Amino acid sequence: MSNRPSSPSSRGPRPAPAGKQRRALSMPRAPGRIDADGDRRVAEGLVTALRAAALDDVVADSLTHPVHSYPARMHPATVRVLVEIVADAMPRDSVLVDPFCGSGTTLVEARAAGLRTMGIDLNPLAVLLARAKTWIVPSKSRARLRLAGRSIGGEALMAGKEARRSGGAATTKRAPAGFDPNARDRRIGKWFAPHVRRELEDLAMRIDEVRQKDPELADVLMVPLSSILYKVSSRTSDTNPEWVARNIGRGQCARLFSERVEMLSAGLDDLYKAFGRATVRGAGGPPDVHLADARRLTEFIPAGRTGGIVTSPPYAGTYDYAEHQRLRFDFLGLRHREFDDGEIGSRRSFATGTTGERKWRTALAETLDSFALALAPGARAAIVIGDSFAGGRATYALDDVRGALSDAFYIEAWASQERPMLGAGERKAFGERPKAEHAIVLRRRDTAVTTGANPTTGPTGPTPPPRREPAPPRRHEASDAPTTPRARPAGPRRRS
Ligand SMILES: C[S@@+](CC[C@H](N)C(=O)[O-])C[C@H]1O[C@@H](n2cnc3c(N)ncnc32)[C@H](O)[C@@H]1O
Repeated sequence: MSNRPSSPSSRGPRPAPAGKQRRALSMPRAPGRIDADGDRRVAEGLVTALRAAALDDVVADSLTHPVHSYPARMHPATVRVLVEIVADAMPRDSVLVDPFCGSGTTLVEARAAGLRTMGIDLNPLAVLLARAKTWIVPSKSRARLRLAGRSIGGEALMAGKEARRSGGAATTKRAPAGFDPNARDRRIGKWFAPHVRRELEDLAMRIDEVRQKDPELADVLMVPLSSILYKVSSRTSDTNPEWVARNIGRGQCARLFSERVEMLSAGLDDLYKAFGRATVRGAGGPPDVHLADARRLTEFIPAGRTGGIVTSPPYAGTYDYAEHQRLRFDFLGLRHREFDDGEIGSRRSFATGTTGERKWRTALAETLDSFALALAPGARAAIVIGDSFAGGRATYALDDVRGALSDAFYIEAWASQERPMLGAGERKAFGERPKAEHAIVLRRRDTAVTTGANPTTGPTGPTPPPRREPAPPRRHEASDAPTTPRARPAGPRRRS
């Protein structure tokens, strides 16, 4: 248990970063009834993890967590508890992995607990965010970030004033490599007022200048820029593409950018300190985050060597990450073709007939197989996943996970918290059976991994043990309450 981090209470609340604070978490703070089952200690831990989201006033604003919004971001206080549960069963000096790392919440918490981490996401924006938010580097490098951010913000502000005095100079537009400048211009144009676009392009070009000497620092500086993009655009939000009129003052982009650089810098200082306090042997090194499909996990870590997983896969048919981030991809110049094709569980994939649902089940099974291959015997995977209204029907995520498990795993414990229904269609689809969000701990059995053909690792790669039963298409049936995990004798059901 050498990898076990100190408890959240013993670590105490970490100081909140400087600058304007903001809370944009997708997990609701409203409490809902919680059911739990399985190993008593782990189930109680999961209840604590789910409750933490509603009780927290500190963790979400600490470290680098508040730097950038992200749809369906896990609540950092929930993650902190899950990391503890998983780290408890991690072999010494092994790596904790988040294969759907998104904006990096798990990686930040695990790094703060002194653990070695690896993140994977197919979304290029997620990779940019997760790397920047876990940028544990010496103070000299962090000072360079502050300095560069201040000078870029200050110079962009001056340039904006100059343009105003001279009657509004034309915008110099960036031409990111691999993007047709005219097509990019058409896609971006309508979302920004001319003076806003001028300021944003100016900030981005100054970051490009930094890139020529220090690409790593430039990538970190892109994150504060990305974090303000939708705020100053006419896009309503990440998840709502409707056009909305916004009155953005001159100079506001440069000022917001500078504030965000300060916020990120302060968060990184805190993370560095927390990491230093908690570090266990072998836990150092730069952020290890890969742009890849979660189903190809063992291409990045040898089979059987992952110490634990804490993750939140997409919720079936709920988000379209590729669409939500498109304006950011275009503005920042992030390539996204692989993500457009490989995003799993997207809302758009559920739009046509039943293929979306079939593909979702296959993708979930492949994902869990790749987790099983990657994990060390006896290691844990903690998964947060929610029920959803997908393609006009209710989808029960705990059932889906059960149906997708191979013999390599058993469910050690789960906890499910009721979530509010959104709209009449959803209420009708769910009927009597509540909609819930689930925290599930899977435990890797000691089963030997055989070799053979496997779609995720190629023809000679290892193959996970067979599934016990095909994934059953369990759908809304009135008042079908969550059932007891079948793979292990269950403890008493707890309710909170
Ligand atoms: C629920 S979000 C994770 C949010 C993350 N836990 C956080 O706190 O920011 C699910 C993530 O899955 C990613 N994703 C979707 N399909 C993927 C795939 N095939 N491989 C890897 N990541 C994928 C999305 O880009 C998104 O970041």
